[in-house]
Amino acid sequence: MTERTERSEGHEGMPSQLSSDKTGTPVTLSHDAQAPAGEVVLEAVGLTKHFPVRPPLRTLFSRKRDAVHAVDDVHLTLRRGRVTALVGESGSGKSTVARLLAQLYPRTGGDIRLHGVTTTVKGGRRFREYARRVQMIFQDPFASLNPVHTTRYHLTRSLRIHGNAGSTPQELEDALAGLLNRVSLTPPERYLDKFPHELSGGQRQRVAIARALGANPEALLADEPVSMLDVSIRLGVLNLLRDLKERLNLAILYITHDIASARYFADETMVMYAGRMVEGGDSETVTQSPAHPYTRLLIDSAPDPDRLTGLADVDAEDRGNGEPPSLIRPPSGCRFHPRCPHAMPRCSIEMPVPLPIGDRPGHWAACWLYDEASLATTASSPNGREELS
Ligand SMILES: Nc1ncnc2c1ncn2[C@@H]1O[C@H](COP(=O)(O)OP(=O)(O)O)[C@@H](O)[C@H]1O
Ligand code: SF4
Ligand SMILES: [Mg+2]
Repeated sequence: MTERTERSEGHEGMPSQLSSDKTGTPVTLSHDAQAPAGEVVLEAVGLTKHFPVRPPLRTLFSRKRDAVHAVDDVHLTLRRGRVTALVGESGSGKSTVARLLAQLYPRTGGDIRLHGVTTTVKGGRRFREYARRVQMIFQDPFASLNPVHTTRYHLTRSLRIHGNAGSTPQELEDALAGLLNRVSLTPPERYLDKFPHELSGGQRQRVAIARALGANPEALLADEPVSMLDVSIRLGVLNLLRDLKERLNLAILYITHDIASARYFADETMVMYAGRMVEGGDSETVTQSPAHPYTRLLIDSAPDPDRLTGLADVDAEDRGNGEPPSLIRPPSGCRFHPRCPHAMPRCSIEMPVPLPIGDRPGHWAACWLYDEASLATTASSPNGREELS
C-alpha cells in the first residue's frame, strides 16, 4: 500500500477544461454533500494502462514484451453535481478507465487525483477509505449481487463497511429504508428481504445503486449501468441517477456505447477510440456538432440517427470503414487513420494533440483537421470546416 500526495499541475497541451483544478483542497476522509456544484472531485491526468500479454514460447527469452495498450494518456475531470459521459465502441478502454479510477487496477502511468491530490491505493484500509468516496456501479446487476443474499444483506454490509449503519438496530433499519427510498424501491419492506432472482432487472440495478450509496460517496462510476436492462426501463434508471446527481450533489461518470443517451443524460461528453480520448465538450455540442470523424461515425451508426439532428446528410465516405485496430500494435500517429475518410499524410506519422474547435467553449478534438497548418492546406472538413478558418 502506498499513498503519495502531490499537488495538481495543469497539463500542457490540453484544452483548458481538461486542466486540473488547483484548489489545493486537502484530502480528508469526511465529505460534504453541500459542497459547491462544479467542484472537482476526481481527475485522471495522463492515465495509462497497458496489460502485458503472455509471450508465445518462441519469444519467451526476448526482452521485448507485448502489451495491450488499453488506455493511453487519458485526461478526465469529474465534478460535483455533473454527469460526464465516456462514450466509445466496445474495446475502446472505457471499463478500464473506470476500473483505474476505482483503483481496482494499478496504473501503468499518469495520475488519479482526489480533490487535487495524487492518490494510489492497493487494497486494505486505504482502499476502503477511497471506496467510501468513489463507488462503482457495474453493467450487470445480477452478476454484481450475490444470488444467495437478500437486499437487506447487501445494503447492511455496505452501510457497516463504510460506517453508516448507525449504532442501534433501529438506526440500521432507518438507514436501510432511507437507501431504498432514495432509489425509489418503496415501500422498503417490500424489497428488503428479497433475493436478487426475485427482483426485476431494473430493481436489481436499483439495489446495486443503493448499495453504492450506502458508502455516501462523492463520485459514482457507472459502467454501462443500463445496457443490460430492457429498453423500457432504461430511462427510469437514468432518471434516477440524474435525480441522485442533483439531490446528493454527486459527480457521475456515465460509461456508454450509446452516444444518444449521453446527450440525454450527461452534461459533458468525452469520446474514446482505441484507448485514447478523441473529442470532448458539453454534451449538446459533441452530439449535435461532432468534430472528430470517429464521433461522426459513432453518431451515424446509432440506431436512430434522427435522435441526433443534422446528421441525416452525412455522406457515405464520412462513415469510415473497417474495424477497431489491434491494441497490441496500435496504428502509428492517429489511431483512427486506417478508418478515417479524411486521413492526411501526417495522420499516420504524428499523434494528434487536442485542438480547440472554436464553436463552443471547451469543445476540442484530437484531430489534425483542426490544426492551423492542415486548415491552410486542405479544402474541406467533415464538419463545416469553413467555420474554423
Ligand atoms: N484484464 C485484462 N487483461 C488484458 N487485456 C484486457 C483486460 N481488460 C481489458 N483488456 C483489453 O483492453 C481493451 C479495452 O477493454 P475495455 O476497457 O473492457 O473496453 P470497453 O469497456 O470500452 O469495451 C480491450 O482490448 C480488452 O481486451
Ligand atoms: S487526425 Fe487525421 S486520421 Fe485522425 S481523425 Fe483526424 S483526419 Fe482522420
Ligand atoms: Mg466495458
